Amino acid sequence: MTRTKPSVEILSTGRFLPPRILTNQDLEKMVDTSDTWIRDRTGIRERRIVDDGVTASDLAEASARKALDRAGISPAEIDVLLVSTATPDRWLPSTACHLQARLGANRCFAADVHAACSGFLYNLALAEGFLATGRGDTALVVATEVMSSIIDWDDRSTCVLFGDGSGAAVLRRSSGTRGLLSHHHRSDGSLSHLLHRPAGGVEHPLDSEGLDRGDHLVKMAGREVFKSAVRAMADASTEALKAAGVSVDEVDLMIPHQANIRIIEATARYAGIPMERVYVNLDRFGNMSSASIPVALDECLEEGRIGKGDLVLSAAFGAGLTWGASVMQF
Ligand code: ACO
Repeated sequence: MTRTKPSVEILSTGRFLPPRILTNQDLEKMVDTSDTWIRDRTGIRERRIVDDGVTASDLAEASARKALDRAGISPAEIDVLLVSTATPDRWLPSTACHLQARLGANRCFAADVHAACSGFLYNLALAEGFLATGRGDTALVVATEVMSSIIDWDDRSTCVLFGDGSGAAVLRRSSGTRGLLSHHHRSDGSLSHLLHRPAGGVEHPLDSEGLDRGDHLVKMAGREVFKSAVRAMADASTEALKAAGVSVDEVDLMIPHQANIRIIEATARYAGIPMERVYVNLDRFGNMSSASIPVALDECLEEGRIGKGDLVLSAAFGAGLTWGASVMQF
């Protein structure tokens, strides 16, 4: 196959996980569930949860500083700052602006792009577009999620799934052969009811009855989301590989969104990638929404699971519905 020539590369990554661990055994004491059920149905053993008062920009600053330090880039060099989060510090202004001020990134534009669990891959594509068209040299892409703040801790079907965390990547225009090779992203808002927070926006403002009912918390039709996720991530992977001119056998590592081990296994099977070449960390962190992929990417780079020249396929799926896949060479 003819390979696409990249024009933007991932220079470095960083991650931050809050230290507090919530195990399945802890959840057994909170709702009617069991460690066995959670492990068998999801693959999750434990997740990280922030202490009270910790915000998305707190986590974001920690992961961003690690990525910037590793790249040897100062905040003042950032031209583009994109943040993905389903749990912004405030509705107005963006969490990206909070982060911009905290980092002292004084010459960038900063914005949140909200695509739920697909947010990191969406933002990689957007940042690449800005850099590749010459509207900047350096981008910082951060995904940061305090999922524990929007979970219904009385709903056993969702509260066992999610965790908090943040991951970041520094992108630079590249003249070499390494970098982002392709993206394939899609959305389908007609299925928004499968995974959403019904109240708290302008459409359904939160009143005291809604607050009591928990209408502002995550509602999910788990089985339907499951089926859509597998099909969408497998299709997007195939399309992204085709666009990159990379065959499935050439993929050294797949980093899927970490939602459920059964979704990951089924997606890998449909995409034609054996599980030995698929990275999984959801047993330790649960589903950190858009932060899942950059945290996994950072672990893989740190542990040497990704070496120089390796081809990596990443696929995501989330509320919206949104989904997509990216192919990159390191
Ligand atoms: N502990 C024990 N029993 C439970 C629990 C729990 N934590 N949660 C649900 N159950 C029960 C249900 O009540 C149901 O009982 P019933 O048969 O008596 O009615 C039974 O288990 C089966 O429920 P299902 O929902 O059919 O179980 P399923 O095998 O589908 O697993 C799960 C549920 C894990 C949520 C699965 O559907 C799933 O992973 N879906 C995808 C969710 C996901 O990944 N969402 C995020 C993707 S997008 C994003 O990341 C934002």
